[in-house]
Amino acid sequence: MKFPKKICAVFPLFMISMAAFSQSFPACTNASSDPDGDGWGWENNQSCQVVSQCNWYGSPIPLCTSAATGWGWENNKSCVSRATCATAPNGLPASSTSSSSRPNTSSNSSSGFSSSGNSTSTTLQENVSGFCGVDGSIDSNHVGYTGSGFINTTNAVGMGVNYSVTVDSASYVMLEVQFASINNRPGNILVNGNVVGRLNFVSTGAWTSWTTENLTIPLSAGVNTIRIASTTDGGLPNIDSLNLVGNGIRPAACNANPGDLKNPPVKSLGCGKALSLQDGRKTITSNGRERVYHVRLPRNYDANKPYRLFYVSHGLGGISEDIYGFLDWFGLKPEAEKAGVQAIWIAPSVPNRGDPWGEADHALFDNITNFAKANLCVDTSRVFVTGMSFGGMISYSLSTNHQKVIRAGFGMSPANYNVWLPNPKRTDPIAWMQTTGMSDGTTPWDGGNGRGAKYIALEKARDNGCNVPSNIETWRAGTSSDHLCVDMQGCNANYPVKVCTFNGGHTHDPRDRGASTSWVPAEAWKFFMQF
Ligand code: GCU
Ligand code: CA
Ligand code: CA
Repeated sequence: MKFPKKICAVFPLFMISMAAFSQSFPACTNASSDPDGDGWGWENNQSCQVVSQCNWYGSPIPLCTSAATGWGWENNKSCVSRATCATAPNGLPASSTSSSSRPNTSSNSSSGFSSSGNSTSTTLQENVSGFCGVDGSIDSNHVGYTGSGFINTTNAVGMGVNYSVTVDSASYVMLEVQFASINNRPGNILVNGNVVGRLNFVSTGAWTSWTTENLTIPLSAGVNTIRIASTTDGGLPNIDSLNLVGNGIRPAACNANPGDLKNPPVKSLGCGKALSLQDGRKTITSNGRERVYHVRLPRNYDANKPYRLFYVSHGLGGISEDIYGFLDWFGLKPEAEKAGVQAIWIAPSVPNRGDPWGEADHALFDNITNFAKANLCVDTSRVFVTGMSFGGMISYSLSTNHQKVIRAGFGMSPANYNVWLPNPKRTDPIAWMQTTGMSDGTTPWDGGNGRGAKYIALEKARDNGCNVPSNIETWRAGTSSDHLCVDMQGCNANYPVKVCTFNGGHTHDPRDRGASTSWVPAEAWKFFMQF
């Protein structure tokens, strides 16, 4: 079953103007309409486009392959059935976009497919920011291009061109590709390595006739790679430029993968906005409930400087005011001051003293950090979580499904039980540090049955590709120091795991013999600053 044959059978007279039809195919209603898995199916005597993601009110959710109605669970994730997705506005993008439905890009229009706000248009040209290379050359021997030339891939299957962009929140955006070709040159569109759709790149008749084809694609929050790769041995058409229409899309540095150590900062949407916040107590509505948090902003805040964001959670019995006040961010902010580093410090709060952290606090994290990213200049690739005891537990909980938005987590006396955990947890790597006192009876090193800090460390070692030790070396009585920090070996260099144990109990503030201050803040600061 080859897509072009179907098209020829149905539209023999319209081949010349295929570009106009390129996005008007209905979405397939059934994945089995596409037995060869090429992304195109055949229903009601016409081609249909297999869509793998649903635009669920602005959030990309995988479409279920088995559940026919409602919601399902596949590949360790929620999925939504086609029938249910179709109830959302523009839920199935391929059936709702056409070349005539390009979103209005005027400054006050609101986009039809991203979650909120105004659409803007971002053009990516060859050899400028956001362009990340071509399997071929950049040429200028056919007139009519814009910028300094056009992309000419080698004529072979799999040849392509790469781009890098950043957005603040997951959204659907319109990708428009300006191209020219003397014959059909279909290509797959890959976002972050996954095929999200296909463009037909139908012949424009001449190398000097340029036109566009477009596709709606899902972008994740943060940096995204976009690749267009040929699916036939003709290679891609010549590509003049890429245009992205959506909310707050900016070109990103090609090495800005948030996983790389010392990557350049990634600016959030709030960069450049006048400061509208002040230090102190704030409220935000999360899950329909008013929630409190405390913020400490950089001194001499510069709206164009992307700052690290620290999200610091208190323990059981505490509230955010404690972190902001007498706990002084567990000594981490003083450490930052010593190092001359200004950052954004945020402490969330449980509603009332004695309340536990739980599942709703995952949404709270998203709500608070998204608000910060939208209104402050945040380096979205350097959002860190930390906390003590129950605060270490919620930090750990967040680290098991927020790996894409949290750069590193530091749990002080954390545990992996008696706290809500996503089930299943995501196993993506995330840099991690933890501290535990060997006589801690509240959140013990090893409480048996997989419960305890030790098992968090082993899990992170596994997720981060470290050599998983059969036994992690811990602090022992009789040694010269009162603490022992072990850097796990063999980990993916971007995802270190540091495990510290000490002579003491349930505390964030252990001290070595004779020392007047704790070794923890300096050790943790060093850990955070390697990114
Ligand atoms: C010609 C043309 C190139 C084009 C190539 C191709 O060589 O000049 O611009 O890329 O054909 O077939 O891909
Ligand atoms: Ca070529
Ligand atoms: Ca160009």
